[in-house]
Amino acid sequence: MNLTLYVWRQKNREAKGEMVRYEAKDINPHMSFLEMLDVVNEGLIAKGEDPIAFDSDCREGICGTCGFMVNGIAHGPEPATTVCQLHMRHFKDGDTIRIEPFRAKPFPVVKDLVINRTAFDQIIQSGGYISVSTGSAPEANSVPVPKPDSDLAMDAAACIACGACVAACPNGSAMLFTAAKVSHLNILPRGQTEKALRTLNMVATMDAEGFGSCTNHRECEAVCPKEINYQFIVKLNRYYLRARLTHRKP
Ligand code: SF4
Ligand code: FES
Repeated sequence: MNLTLYVWRQKNREAKGEMVRYEAKDINPHMSFLEMLDVVNEGLIAKGEDPIAFDSDCREGICGTCGFMVNGIAHGPEPATTVCQLHMRHFKDGDTIRIEPFRAKPFPVVKDLVINRTAFDQIIQSGGYISVSTGSAPEANSVPVPKPDSDLAMDAAACIACGACVAACPNGSAMLFTAAKVSHLNILPRGQTEKALRTLNMVATMDAEGFGSCTNHRECEAVCPKEINYQFIVKLNRYYLRARLTHRKP
C-alpha cells in the first residue's frame, strides 16, 4: 500500500516545528505503524536526510515507551492498542495520515515525535512505592488478598505510563495515570500504611508538574491502550478527600 504522511518535524525543544510531507511506498499491510516509519526512515537515511525521531522499546504494547498522535488520536484509531501494535491493515491504500507528538505542557518535545515524560517519573518518585523493609520475599500466602482486590489492583497496575491519557485530555490532566498508580498500591494490604501520605504526595506532585484538573471528559479512558477505567479517578478522589480529613503531617 502507498500512503501520504504529514509528520511533525522539530529539531529540538527550542526549535519551531512544522508538518513535513512524506510518501510511504510499498508498505506491507501486516507491518506495525512503527515498522512503516522504519521503512520511511531507511529511505530518508539513504537520501542523506535526518530520519524521523520516535520512541520505542518493546514493540509489544507493554513498556509504554511509544506513543504519538495518529490523525489526532493518541496511539491511533484502534481501541486498546499502542501505536507499536497498530497495524497498517487498519488503513487504506492511498490514505493520508497526520502524525504529531503528544502535546501537553509537562511533556516538552525533545525531537520530532519524542517527548520528555520525566513529569510522570516525578509523580512515581513521590509515592509510587511501598517503603517498608521487607527483607527476603515472604511466603506467598502469608498475607491473604481477597480475589476482587487483587483483580482490581492488577487492573490498575496495567498502566504502562505512556502518557496518552494526558495528550487526549483537553485539560492536560494526568488524573487517570495518577489514579492507576495510587490505586494499585492503595488497594493491597501492604499499601495501607502509607496510603494517605502516598495519595497526598502524588497528587501534590501531579499539580506541581503542571498537569491540569479532571473535568470528567473521559477522553483519557477512551484512548488508554490498557483500558484503565475512569472509576479509578473516582477512587483517587475518595482517597484524597479521606487523606485530607485524616492525615496529619508529622
Ligand atoms: S492510564 Fe492508560 S493512557 Fe494513561 S499512562 Fe496509563 S496506560 Fe497510558
Ligand atoms: S514500544 Fe513498548 S509499548 Fe510500544
